[in-house]
Amino acid sequence: MKRIIAAAALTLFTAGLALAADTITLPAKNGNITFNHKQHQETLKDCKICHEKGPGKIEGFGKDFAHKTCKGCHETKKQGPTKCGECHKK
Ligand code: HEC
Ligand code: HEC
Ligand code: HEC
Repeated sequence: MKRIIAAAALTLFTAGLALAADTITLPAKNGNITFNHKQHQETLKDCKICHEKGPGKIEGFGKDFAHKTCKGCHETKKQGPTKCGECHKK
């Protein structure tokens, strides 16, 4: 029984992954940010870190959210870009 539930959960998870493109480009006047969404999904596992209200467009996404959530995590983990030009590419 446990095994069946695990398989069902895995199917749902994979279906979620299939909806999003591998890399996402976020527009910014000072240089667009391209990041590997798939890699973040795989290493972080928890969608809610970025998608509080479920997968899809993030309501209110912008500078404040990005610098707090994206840059904040990179700083804490000492992994991923933290310098302006490493994310904002012209
Ligand atoms: C590191 C942060 C982060 C994590 C973790 C994350 N996402 Fe995303 N995701 C984003 C951002 C940023 C966007 C673009 C949002 C926007 O344009 O409003 C996005 C967009 C999406 C989209 C919209 C389709 C697309 O390609 O534009 C889907 C669907 C999605 N994510 C699903 C997921 C699922 C499912 C998970 C967990 C397995 C997940 N995301 C984990 C940041 C993340
Ligand atoms: C971890 C990646 C990352 C780093 C590092 C980073 N940013 Fe950002 N920044 C973003 C994201 C993502 C957005 C939101 C883009 C969007 O809403 O489409 C953003 C938005 C902005 C905006 C608003 C742009 C607009 O068009 O409204 C400015 C200005 C900005 N950042 C300046 C900076 C400066 C200055 C630094 C260095 C001190 C910096 N950023 C470092 C990811 C980053
Ligand atoms: C909870 C932690 C966490 C959050 C939130 C997070 N990242 Fe990252 N990010 C990482 C880690 C860890 C790496 C290094 C991955 C590796 O090198 O294997 C990374 C690497 C990156 C890289 C370099 C590799 C690549 O994907 O091209 C970029 C650019 C990046 N992140 C952008 C972002 C943006 C934009 C957001 C917000 C929408 C974000 N990150 C949110 C943890 C995070």
